[in-house]
Amino acid sequence: MAESWTPDSWRSKPIQQVPDYPDQTRLEAVEAQLRNYPPLVFAGEARRLTAHLAKAAEGKAFVMQGGDCAESFAEFHPNNIRDTFRVLLQMAVVLTFGAACPVVKVGRLAGQFAKPRSSPVEVIDGVTLPAYRGDMINGMDFTPEARNPDPERLVRAYNQSAATLNLLRAFAQGGYADLHKVHQWNLGFVAGASGARYADLCSRLDETLNFMEACGLTSESTPQIRETDFFTSHEALILQYEQALTRVDSTSGDWYDCSAHMLWVGDRTRQADGAHVEFLRGIANPVGCKAGPTTSPDDLLRLIDLFNPANQAGRLTVITRMGADQVETKLPPLLRAVRREGRQVVWLCDPMHANTVKMGDYKTRSFDRILSEVKDFFAVHRAEGTHSGGVHFELTGQDVTECVGGTQAITEARLGDRYHTHCDPRLNATQALELAFLISETLKEERALVRNLAAAS
Ligand code: PEP
Ligand code: CO
Repeated sequence: MAESWTPDSWRSKPIQQVPDYPDQTRLEAVEAQLRNYPPLVFAGEARRLTAHLAKAAEGKAFVMQGGDCAESFAEFHPNNIRDTFRVLLQMAVVLTFGAACPVVKVGRLAGQFAKPRSSPVEVIDGVTLPAYRGDMINGMDFTPEARNPDPERLVRAYNQSAATLNLLRAFAQGGYADLHKVHQWNLGFVAGASGARYADLCSRLDETLNFMEACGLTSESTPQIRETDFFTSHEALILQYEQALTRVDSTSGDWYDCSAHMLWVGDRTRQADGAHVEFLRGIANPVGCKAGPTTSPDDLLRLIDLFNPANQAGRLTVITRMGADQVETKLPPLLRAVRREGRQVVWLCDPMHANTVKMGDYKTRSFDRILSEVKDFFAVHRAEGTHSGGVHFELTGQDVTECVGGTQAITEARLGDRYHTHCDPRLNATQALELAFLISETLKEERALVRNLAAAS
C-alpha cells in the first residue's frame, strides 16, 4: 500500500537541490501569498494533455516538447515568447504535414525558472558564493546580494508565467496559429536550406488547404485549422512554489499542480524516496521523469510504480537523456523492462542534456551529436518494437550561436557572437527547424510501419 499523500508530504522526505533561504519567515509569507493566487492552468486542460499523451504512448501521436533551458526575468519580452512559440509551431507543422502525424505541442515555458546545479557554490578568484539557481531563486551576477536566495522572486516568476501563458493562449487560439498563416510565420528569419524547404512545405500545405476549402473545411467551420492546443511544462524543482499552486479540482476531487499542465522530475532529483518524487506522485497532472545513463531498469520500474500505480496511459512520460555515445546500450534494457512488466509509458528523447561539452569558455552542444542521439533513439525503439513518443529540446526562436554545427555551420570561434543563454546552450530557430525536417523523415517511415501493422491485424 502506498503511503498517504498530501501536498506537503514531500516536506518530511530527504531533498536535493534546495536553495538555502536565509529568511524562512519571508519565505512562508510568500508561500501564503501564492496559495491565494489564481491557478495558472485548469485541471481539465491537464486531463486533455493526458489524453493526447496516451495517443503518443500507442504510437498514434508525436510529442514535441521544447523551449528555454531557463526562462529569465531580463529576457521577458513579447517578441521572445512569440518567437519561441513560432518555432515550436513551425516544427510541429513540419512533423504533422511531413510525417502525417498529430503532434502534441508542449512548451518548456511559463514556469521554467529553476535549475538543478552540479555544485551548491561557485568559486571565482578565491571568492565562494551560492551557485546561481535560476531567476525564481537568485540572480546571476556574482555578488553576495544577487546570489542570496530571495523569496520575492517566486512571486515574480508566478507573475511572469501568468503573463506568458496569457500571450500563449492568445497566440494558440486567437488566430496566429491558423494554418493559413504558416507562410507568414517564416518571414525570413530562418536561414539557408531549412528556410527554402519550409517555404516549399508551406506551398504544399496551401494547396492542401485550398483542396479542403473546396470540400467545405474552412477556418470558420473547422477549429482545428484555426487554432491549436498548446500546453506548458517545467521541471518541478522548487516545491514550495509547486505546493502553493496545488489545488483540489472540484470536478474530480483530485489534486492538480496548477502551475503548468505537465511537470517533470529532473535526473538529479529522481530519488524514489526523495521529496521531488513524493510531490509529483500525488498530483493528477501528467508527469515526466528524466532518465539518464545511471538509471537502472529496477530504478525505473520503482519510479513507474510510484508515479503510475494504476498504469494509466498518458500519465507518465519518461524522458531519456543518455548521450549520443550511450543511447544504443543504455536505452534497450529500460525498454525491455518496461515492456516485460506491461507498463504504459510515453518515451521522449532529450538529446540535449547528456551531450553538453566545454569548448573554450563556452558550454556547447554539437548539432550532429544531438541528431545522432535522436536517430539512435528511433532505431532502438524500432528494433525493440516500442514507440518513439517524441522529443524534448532546449531551443529558442532567437538567432543565437550556442550550439555548434547545423547548415549555418556555427563554429567554436563563432560561439561568442550571440551566446545569450542563462544556463544550457539552446538550438536556434534555424537549427531547430532543420532537426524537425530530419526527424520528419524518420517519423514518416515509422508511421508507415504502424499503419501497415494496423492494416495487417
Ligand atoms: C533540464 O531539463 O534542464 C535538466 C536539467 O535536465 P536533466 O534533469 O535531465 O539533467
Ligand atoms: Co538544461
